[in-house]
Amino acid sequence: EQARHIQQTLAEFRLSKNQLLEVKKRMKVEIERGLKKDSHKDATVKMLPTFVRSTPDGTENGDFLALDLGGTNFRVLLVKIRSGKRRSVEMHNKIYAIPIEVMQGTGEELFDHIVHCISDFLDYMGMKSARLPLGFTFSFPCHQTSLDAGILVTWTKGFKATDCEGEDVVELLREAIKRKEEFELDVVAIVNDTVGTMMTCAYEEPTCEVGLIAGTGSNACYMEEMKNIEIVPGTEGRMCVNMEWGAFGDNGCLDDIRTTYDQAVDENSLNEGKQRYEKMCSGMYLGEIVRQILIDLTKRGFLFRGQISETLKTRGIFETKFLSQIESDRLALLQVRAILQQLGLDSTCDDSIIVKEVCGTVSRRAAQLCGAGMAAVVDKIRENRGLDHLDVTVGVDGTLYKLHPHFSRIFQQTVKELAPKCDVNFLLSEDGSGKGAALITAVGCRQRELDA
Ligand code: BG6
Ligand code: GLC
Repeated sequence: EQARHIQQTLAEFRLSKNQLLEVKKRMKVEIERGLKKDSHKDATVKMLPTFVRSTPDGTENGDFLALDLGGTNFRVLLVKIRSGKRRSVEMHNKIYAIPIEVMQGTGEELFDHIVHCISDFLDYMGMKSARLPLGFTFSFPCHQTSLDAGILVTWTKGFKATDCEGEDVVELLREAIKRKEEFELDVVAIVNDTVGTMMTCAYEEPTCEVGLIAGTGSNACYMEEMKNIEIVPGTEGRMCVNMEWGAFGDNGCLDDIRTTYDQAVDENSLNEGKQRYEKMCSGMYLGEIVRQILIDLTKRGFLFRGQISETLKTRGIFETKFLSQIESDRLALLQVRAILQQLGLDSTCDDSIIVKEVCGTVSRRAAQLCGAGMAAVVDKIRENRGLDHLDVTVGVDGTLYKLHPHFSRIFQQTVKELAPKCDVNFLLSEDGSGKGAALITAVGCRQRELDA
């Protein structure tokens, strides 16, 4: 009887192939909306132009600084790119913490902190006087009018610093550098992490024309035909589009598959009503969905002897790494119990079986939904080119994709099932998006010289 109730609860999370095909179809509709002049202003999937017009060709050259802000880690990097026959990339980087008070304080504090970290890095590398060109990986939605201007549309994930939305974040960075009066830098490009990842992977594999992040957040970019990007003048060639697909569903188009647990997660978040697809697919929220289900099952007396502990009431306890451990097949149930114990949850053997099944169900749905989105993207590229069959590579990064024991497999399998006319090769980014940002900066510098 109890088992039946639990299965009933989890059944809402089990999507059929038809439901997933429907998700793919709706994503396609939202993509078109975002690209068209008449509809892009109200579109939820924003399809933001990036002013990146090609993937790397090996002629990129020079020394660059890169920042990587918005994922699990904030990094400052020095990237040395050498072109020619023996082309190479050498990277040095340091990770810095961004305290939560800074993520959610004032914009000035946030950018002062970033510049403080750059200063420390330049001291560390002994390069304070170099005035290097800089590429800024900034993993949030930005309206770009050129490579080096990006107006923040809205914060997402865990950020909520004041006075930044509606501002050009490149200017905010330049102003903070000026305030510090310690060193000069030339900010050449602002880059979404999906775009940086695509470029990093395309440097090794020229067939890479799509970037995917399955990490704290969820998003993708791809090379779209210029003639289809109606809000950018020109019809020749291609441009990379930052989809910002995390906002898919914000107009209600996924409401039939959203559960009451998804709604609870949304209500508890920093950005209620926004990033609804991301809240079903990405690392920052999967644990929260699990927690909402566990709270409900406990209330109904099916778990933890009906006792809701303080731990279970705590936001964010199930980080991606814990879910990944709990779902690992190599782990015995006793070890699952040990992990729950670590988190402060006293479980019986039966409890641990249920918790593991809840985690598996939630992460499977995430991988499938994300796969349905990707199926729409690769089919769109195929149709753009009038092909019956497309071979394409997707560059991927993100802790969910990298750490979770099943996500990548279920995701890939879903893409294959929902886009049977595409052969999609998935390439894991080992170097992060800073390398890609430096490659874009190299092209930006060359273009400036030509324009001058
Ligand atoms: C990193 C990239 O490797 O992955 C970042 O360099 C990106 O730019 C990040 O944001 C995404 O993963 P996560 O899990 O850290 O959000
Ligand atoms: C969020 C951001 C997006 C980013 C993604 C992955 O969805 O809005 O810009 O690419 O997270 O980090």
